[in-house]
Amino acid sequence: MKRLILLQLAFLLSFYFVNAQEADSIIEKKIDVLIKQMTLDEKVRMCHANSKFSSRGVPRLGIPDLKMSDGPHGVRAEISWATWDYAKWTNDSVIAFPALTCLAATFNPQMAYEYGVALGEEARFRNKDIILAPGVNIYRHPLNGRNFEYMGEDPLLAAQMAVPYIKGVQSIGVAACIKHFALNNQERWRGHINVKVSDRALYEIYLPAFKAACQEGDAWTLMGAYNKYNSQHCSHNDFLLNKVLKKDWGYKGVVMSDWNATHNTLEAANNGLDIEMGTWGKRWDTIFDFSEYYLAKPFEQALLKGEVSEDVLNDKVRRILRLCLKTNMRTDRPIGKIGGEHSIIARNIAREGIVLLKNNNQMLPLDASKTIKIAVIGENAVKPMTPGGGSSELKALYEVSPLDGIQKRFKNAAITYSRGYESPTFAWGKKPELKFNADSLAKAAIEAASKADLVIFVGGLNKNFFQDSEGGDRKSMDLPYNQDSLINEILKVNPNMLMVLLTGNAVSMPWINKVPAIVQAWYIGSEAGNVIADVISGDVNPSGKLPFTFPVKLEDCPAIRNGAISYPGDSINQEYKEGIYVGYRWYLTQKIKPLFPFGYGLSYTTFDIKPATSGIQKVKANETFTIKANITNTGKVKGSEVLQLYVRKPKSVVDRPLRELRAFKKVALEPGQTSTVELSVAAQNLSFYDEKKGSWTLEPGEYLIEVGTSAENILFTNKISVE
Ligand code: BGC
Repeated sequence: MKRLILLQLAFLLSFYFVNAQEADSIIEKKIDVLIKQMTLDEKVRMCHANSKFSSRGVPRLGIPDLKMSDGPHGVRAEISWATWDYAKWTNDSVIAFPALTCLAATFNPQMAYEYGVALGEEARFRNKDIILAPGVNIYRHPLNGRNFEYMGEDPLLAAQMAVPYIKGVQSIGVAACIKHFALNNQERWRGHINVKVSDRALYEIYLPAFKAACQEGDAWTLMGAYNKYNSQHCSHNDFLLNKVLKKDWGYKGVVMSDWNATHNTLEAANNGLDIEMGTWGKRWDTIFDFSEYYLAKPFEQALLKGEVSEDVLNDKVRRILRLCLKTNMRTDRPIGKIGGEHSIIARNIAREGIVLLKNNNQMLPLDASKTIKIAVIGENAVKPMTPGGGSSELKALYEVSPLDGIQKRFKNAAITYSRGYESPTFAWGKKPELKFNADSLAKAAIEAASKADLVIFVGGLNKNFFQDSEGGDRKSMDLPYNQDSLINEILKVNPNMLMVLLTGNAVSMPWINKVPAIVQAWYIGSEAGNVIADVISGDVNPSGKLPFTFPVKLEDCPAIRNGAISYPGDSINQEYKEGIYVGYRWYLTQKIKPLFPFGYGLSYTTFDIKPATSGIQKVKANETFTIKANITNTGKVKGSEVLQLYVRKPKSVVDRPLRELRAFKKVALEPGQTSTVELSVAAQNLSFYDEKKGSWTLEPGEYLIEVGTSAENILFTNKISVE
């Protein structure tokens, strides 16, 4: 006991007086002492859930339970101890932050850090130790029901946004949980689909954001995915967890399963799973005894029979204790808070994430001083978007609807509202219900439009099942609930239409040539209506950029184009036949014109961008090169632009996409202001994954370095030569 107290003291002092290495060694010694005092039963109890959202500590030794919550857009309402029912607390409302697609669209890592800090503070206030976020599964196609929870189609963008988010959350003493590792790129058959993918695509496209989250972000926990890879469930996949994560990447954190993603005791025990969560038994809606979990009694028996070595158990406990010492065993954690300035942070992120897709004849910004007649049409103008969508759903302190926001900002306008269409209301076990007659809704909307000077159509998808929602994929890329035909009918009586789309996914736009202005507004949480009003009124100049390509039609998309085995699979297996050609890598290489390319987004101002680096730079394998550009705001209002650096290797020993993003930087400029932007890339980041050697290879020779403002809009090219 005396030894423990001394170590406890050393541990506390370690934060102030010793370097990181010494602090780590003090922590490991403290863990040794704790593990020695624990019984087998106590250790096993730490490796599985003891409620829907917690795992057990060892109260006798001062180790508290680990308390968790979803994630990723705010802290989820409290769930009951042993069932999926909400606990009906009255003090668990939170700020709803913008969805991660919107965060990615800011292309601004500082926004991700502020998001993380604010979320960490809310999680702390709700007494959580782990927030189950962020998700970095790559956007493979527009049907995945969970794309709105992820950060787009490019591994570098996802990595660079996830790392500061994680650092922000963890700065508050709350663990982030990077999820869903790995290859969980669809919801259809997510519990068992076996993904086959080339090693090159695995390492170049699907793993880099996870690697950065673990190595640069130091995510203290990671969640294994539901699906299978190499015929083994990802939550206990030997290759992914033992080899890639823990051996190759040197991961020291805790691996937990997705909820009900564990299927086998020996695999779970031996293949790198540390905490089993959410196992259901036979039915998800019944109570299943926590001691029946694979890593509970059956695990203890396997240990007692010698089928699993105690070292395996001790390694899990060591990882969990490391996590506890950074979270629930710390006595100096901030207490956190909910609301307050978090509203401003949520609003700022959304202001930078909204993407202006089209603005013919400078229809936007709208002059709010004008006394015009505006017809706001569409269910999304009033539908709350923070409930629904699955585990990311939130009980928001407040959610400003687009209609409220527009009414508040455009006080001089005469505003009418018509729903226009209706989505069914879902309740588990019940048939979806409709309240209104579809024809009357459409008729009223068309009439309202015919009397107005301007139509603001607020439509898109929503968080219903089979839309932007967990557990199922979308059935098509079209707008649901007959919105396309309604839009066409409205355009016949009033072509002066501003389209505001609330979606977390690309949608087809058959009316695109007839609609003069389009704003992609994602799901932006509590401040939704205010931010939409900020942007369309010009109080804020939009600067968001698309984190994924909008194809013209679903069939253009690589995962879909390669047949059913590629998406959705044959219900047992699926093959990612497009390999590394995901997103813009595919559209550019195949010369398929998208509706809107990756990295695209308009502004109310104009920029002049000129190269500031000339000649061929010679770079050694261990060096970093920098390309400079001078950018001037040539318009009348302040604004931000994202400079994007793409790399191209015309002559290569392997197939390469036409170009790949390797750096980006957002810069804010006053009218007339010029700034020199530096974009730096480590030569190593030009490597490809060599499948034959099973390692990364940096090819020597010439590379083209292209700088632009989207994957399709390249403004100038430099050359480098790697020696
Ligand atoms: C989701 C996870 C989530 C967990 C807990 C699962 O269904 O895939 O993302 O964190 O549930 O709610």
